[in-house]
Amino acid sequence: MADTTKHLLIVEDEAALREVVAERLADQGYDVVQAANGEEAIDRLAEFAFDIVVTDLRLPGIDGGKVLEAAVTRYPDIIGIVVTGYGTVKDAVAAIKRGATDFVTKPFQFDELLHVLDSALEQRRLKSENAYLRSQLERRYSFEGIVGRSRPMRDLFQLLETVSVTNSTILVSGETGTGKELVARAIHHNSPRRGNQFVAINCSAIPETLLEAELFGHVRGAFTGAVGNRVGRFEQAHKGTLLLDEVGTMSGPLQMKLLRTLQEREVERVGDSRTIKVDVRVIAATNSDLTKLVAAGKFREDLYYRLNVIPVRLPPLRDRREDIPLLVQHFLDRFCRELGPPRPTMTVSQQAMRRLMAYEWPGNVRQLENALERAVALSAGRTQIELADLPPELQELSDAPSSGVFSLPEDGIDFHEYVGNVERELIRQSLERTSGNKGRAAQLLNLKRTTLVEKLKRMTKN
Ligand SMILES: Nc1ncnc2c1ncn2[C@@H]1O[C@H](COP(=O)(O)OP(=O)(O)OP(=O)(O)O)[C@@H](O)[C@H]1O
Ligand SMILES: [Mg+2]
Repeated sequence: MADTTKHLLIVEDEAALREVVAERLADQGYDVVQAANGEEAIDRLAEFAFDIVVTDLRLPGIDGGKVLEAAVTRYPDIIGIVVTGYGTVKDAVAAIKRGATDFVTKPFQFDELLHVLDSALEQRRLKSENAYLRSQLERRYSFEGIVGRSRPMRDLFQLLETVSVTNSTILVSGETGTGKELVARAIHHNSPRRGNQFVAINCSAIPETLLEAELFGHVRGAFTGAVGNRVGRFEQAHKGTLLLDEVGTMSGPLQMKLLRTLQEREVERVGDSRTIKVDVRVIAATNSDLTKLVAAGKFREDLYYRLNVIPVRLPPLRDRREDIPLLVQHFLDRFCRELGPPRPTMTVSQQAMRRLMAYEWPGNVRQLENALERAVALSAGRTQIELADLPPELQELSDAPSSGVFSLPEDGIDFHEYVGNVERELIRQSLERTSGNKGRAAQLLNLKRTTLVEKLKRMTKN
């Protein structure tokens, strides 16, 4: 059974007071240890992780502030209550700044202390419950750092779970920034190959002439500039995983050589006719539609089938807007931890969240990640991200959803404000399209002309 007894350390130099309080706390079910001065308190704290420390601020020798500091440094979750003499509330406030949870002033009623203790314990319980709920949420809606709760993402997690343990070749496709590389790494880390190398090569970033040697290695003198022998990426990834990024950009001859390598499971270094056996799991990634390239004769059909054993499609972010609040939370957690001094995770105003959910995100999750990093940096000292912290392209948006797709944000919305915005936007667009002809605008919206005129009147009044 969990130990629910609260362990409390009381630090007070007035023996009579200390003993009375200790006894009454024990009556209330606390397990109490007493310390008569700061030195003794610090010794006790070194030996045992108390739930609560109640300390007088004025102590001979090491004072209560120091005791508190020692307690909080050692146990960041400890509840520290300081007891101050009359007229030293200023000191109590200073102690709170140093990590105390609350204070009572002397002389105090015992009930007052009990009340302070109760509410501090309740606060701590809520705090750990929140942290727990959040970590559960993260675990439920993520796979190896890939966050998402939409149907396609949950299906993806399941697929990844199954295919990670196999050796099948995987073709990951999706627009830029949808997480293709993240998925490839997740597969590797979840596979029996995790102890060996994950090697990534971006086929579009390396000049055609160098790509072959980069992939397969070369021997000395194989071509001008090939001064030594060189191990290729395939060999580097032996027993591990190789990500061939932007595989659609490979030239015909290289596609041929890649196909042979995948079939034979061996490589030939450039300039050498000997073959080297390799055991590599290949993941290919592309942001173009390979079937179109195949149809256009730009990509070998046989290689396509060889790579596309297991297709993994990452939908663009605008098609899974319900993932946005979760991703926002995920990135805020990270940036608040990483950028500048660590701080509690920030929240996002509802207005800002509406924009985040209405935007099209052509750069997908990467663009969202960058927008939030910028917002956290701009929001110095505040606890909430506001609309003004978002990039200009989001500020120019109207609050209406830009496509028909809309999913309710985690924390809900202001219904009337939202619907009002949609209404205004539709009316504005219908008038724009009909060059201000109210009759035709009303037709476009399937409204009576009089209804449209009514609404327009109300709009201009507000
Ligand atoms: N579902 C997700 N959960 C958490 N982070 C994500 C998710 N999807 C993408 N990211 C983050 O977004 C950024 C872009 O992801 P990644 O580099 O994997 O995209 P990509 O599809 O390979 O893009 P490109 O085609 O431009 O190379 C990374 O920082 C990644 O960690
Ligand atoms: Mg990538």
